[in-house]
Amino acid sequence: MRSSWYKKLLLVLGPRPPFNWLLLCLVSVLVLVVLWGSSTSFDSVSASVRHDIHSNYRRLNNQAVLDYLELKKLGSNLLRNYDFCGKERENYVPCYNVSANLLAGFKDGEEFDRHCELSQDQEYCLVRPPKDYKIPLTWPSGRDVVWSGNVKLSKDQFLSSGSMTKRLMLLEENQISFRSDDDIVDGVKDYSHQISDMIGLGSDVEFHEAGVRNVLDIGCGFGSFGAHLLSLKLMAICMAAYEPIGSQVQLALERGLPAVIGNFIARQLPFPALSYDMVHCTKCGIFWDDKDGMLLIEVDRVLKPGGYFVLTSGSYRQIRNKRNKGTVLVPLEEYTQKLCWNLVAHQDETFIWQKTTDAHCYISSKQSSFPLCDGEDSMSYYKPLVQCISGTASKRWIPVQNKSSIYFSPTEIAIYGINPDDFSEDMEFWRSALRNYWSLLSPLIFSDHPKRPGDEDPMPPYNMVRNVMDMNARYGGLNTALMEGRKSVWVMNVVPVGVHNSLPVILDQGFAGVLHDWCEPFPTYPRTYDMLHAKGLLSHLDSQKCSMVDLIFEMDRILRPEGWVIISDKIDHIETARSLVTQLRWEARVIDPQNGSDQRLLVCQKPFLRK
Ligand SMILES: *[C@@H]1O[C@H](CO)[C@@H](O)[C@H](O)[C@H]1NC(C)=O
Ligand SMILES: *[C@@H]1O[C@H](CO)[C@@H](O)[C@H](O)[C@H]1NC(C)=O
Ligand SMILES: *[C@@H]1O[C@H](CO)[C@@H](O)[C@H](O)[C@H]1NC(C)=O
Repeated sequence: MRSSWYKKLLLVLGPRPPFNWLLLCLVSVLVLVVLWGSSTSFDSVSASVRHDIHSNYRRLNNQAVLDYLELKKLGSNLLRNYDFCGKERENYVPCYNVSANLLAGFKDGEEFDRHCELSQDQEYCLVRPPKDYKIPLTWPSGRDVVWSGNVKLSKDQFLSSGSMTKRLMLLEENQISFRSDDDIVDGVKDYSHQISDMIGLGSDVEFHEAGVRNVLDIGCGFGSFGAHLLSLKLMAICMAAYEPIGSQVQLALERGLPAVIGNFIARQLPFPALSYDMVHCTKCGIFWDDKDGMLLIEVDRVLKPGGYFVLTSGSYRQIRNKRNKGTVLVPLEEYTQKLCWNLVAHQDETFIWQKTTDAHCYISSKQSSFPLCDGEDSMSYYKPLVQCISGTASKRWIPVQNKSSIYFSPTEIAIYGINPDDFSEDMEFWRSALRNYWSLLSPLIFSDHPKRPGDEDPMPPYNMVRNVMDMNARYGGLNTALMEGRKSVWVMNVVPVGVHNSLPVILDQGFAGVLHDWCEPFPTYPRTYDMLHAKGLLSHLDSQKCSMVDLIFEMDRILRPEGWVIISDKIDHIETARSLVTQLRWEARVIDPQNGSDQRLLVCQKPFLRK
C-alpha cells in the first residue's frame, strides 16, 4: 500500500534528490502523528508517539530510497503543466510596472506607486530563480553574508559608497558581506546611541523603557540599522519603494530582516492608525514637506501618541538657522506645528519630533492645526492620502510611555474589540500545535544549533527557516508560539482585507504585520519567504470570489526554492489546492488530523528547479 502510494506521488513529482524527499516524508509523518497526539492527550502518549515516529521514519526512509532508485532508472518527468516565465521576470513584482503606469497616465511620482489594476496577468508562469541562485545561508550568518547571485544589484552598488547604511563590501566573487554591528566604523551603533541620547535615555538598550518597541524604518538602506534594533529586541520593519535594481527591501529580506515594499506617494500605508512607536528616515529620499503636509499627516496617523519621528537629512539643516534669525518658518516646521508635534531634539542632521499624547491638542492648540477626520478609519488599505488627523477618537489612544508590557490583560484585549476568551483560546491552540509538532521539526527546519568547530556542513537542503509569513494571522498566535518556542524566526503577520481587522493587536504585541487583499499580489520580491502558513485562507478567498490559482502562483513567486508551505483548511479546498500545487511541481501531502473534523492539512515543499 504505502509503497505504491509513494510510487504514484513520485511519478507525479518526477525524480527528486532523495534527501529532499525523505525530509518531506518525515515532516508529514511527524505532523500527522503529532496532530493525532494533540487531539487526544498528547502528554500521556508522547513517549510512545516518539517511539513510533522513529520506527516509522526508518521504515519510510528505507522505502523511499528504494522507490527513488527505481524511479531514477525510468528517468521520468511526466507532468509539466506550467512553464517558467521569461528571464526578465526573475525579480518580478506585480503591480509595480512603471512603463504601464506611465502609459495609463500616472505622473508626478504616482507612476512608482502600486497599481494592481494594471497588472492583470495574461498567462500563468513560474518565476524562475536567477542562474546563480543559491539557498541563503542560515541565520544569523545569512544576516551578514548573502549570495550576490540572489539579489539584483548594479556594479556601482558593490563599491563602498559614502552613505552609512548602503556601504557594502564585496567579499568574494559570489558573496556580499555587511559590516557587523560590532564594527564601530560602521556607525550604526553610534547612530542608535545618538538617537537614544537625544530622546533622553542613557543608552539604546533603554528604548523599551521609553515605550519604543516597534519601529517603521523608511528607506532602510540595506537594513543594518534595523538589524541593530532587532538585536536590541525591537521589531524594526523596513519599508521602501519598489526598486527594480538594488532594492533595499529585497536585500533586507535576503538578510532575514523584516521588510515590505511601501510608498509615501499618494496612498496610505497598509497599517491602521496608531501602529508604531517610532518612524525613522535616514536620507530616505522623501520630500516630507511635499503634498501640503499630507506625507507627514500619514506619519502622524501611523504613530502612536507619544511616538517619535526621527529624520536624518542634510537637506533640512536650514530649519533652525532660519528660525533663530526670526525668518518665516520653512514648511516642514510649519507642518510639524500644525500636527502638534514637539521637536524634542536636533543634533547635526538628525531631528526628532514627538507626537502629542493629548488628543485635545489639535483642537485646543492656539496654532491652527490640521482638522480631525470624521469617524474612525479601521481599514486603511491603500486609501488616498488625507489632509486630516486620524485616531484621536480611538480607544487605542494610549501614550507609548504608558504601556508597560507587550502582554495583555483581559481589559486591554477588550479595547481591540476581541473577546478575551477567544484570544486566550487562540493562543492556547497555537501553543499546543507548536509544542507538539514544531519541537519535533526544529532540528530539521530551524538551525537553532550553531555549528561546532569540526562539524561538517549540514546536508542540503540545510533547511533553515527565518522569514515566515502567516497569511491569515488572526491574533498572531503562530508568531507568539514561535517566539515562546525560541525559534529564531520573524513572522510577517498578514491580516486579509474582509476579516476582523486584528492587525492592531498583532502590532501591539511587537510583531510585524500588514493588511493585505489576497486577491492581489503581495508587495514583496520573489523568493523572499522561507515558509508560508495559511489557516482558513482558502475558505476566506472562496467567500471573496478570488482565484485560488492566482493565489498559489503568488505563493510560488514569493517562496524561495526548497521553502515550505503549510495550508490548513476544509477538505474540498485542500483537495483542489493539492491538485494545483502538484502541477506547479511542489511536493505535497494531505494530512488528516483524524479528529472527526473536515479540516485537513496540506504540507508542501517548493522544489529548486532551474528549468
Ligand atoms: C510592463 O508594461 C509594459 C507596457 O504595458 C509591458 O510591455 C511589459 O511587458 C510589462 N512588464 C512586465 C514585467 O510585466
Ligand atoms: C499615562 O501615564 C501618566 C503618568 O503615569 C498618567 O498621568 C496618564 O493618565 C496616563 N495616561 C493614560 C491614557 O493612561
Ligand atoms: C481538528 O484539527 C484541526 C487541525 O489541527 C483543527 O483546526 C480543528 O479545530 C480540529 N477539530 C476538532 C473538532 O478538534
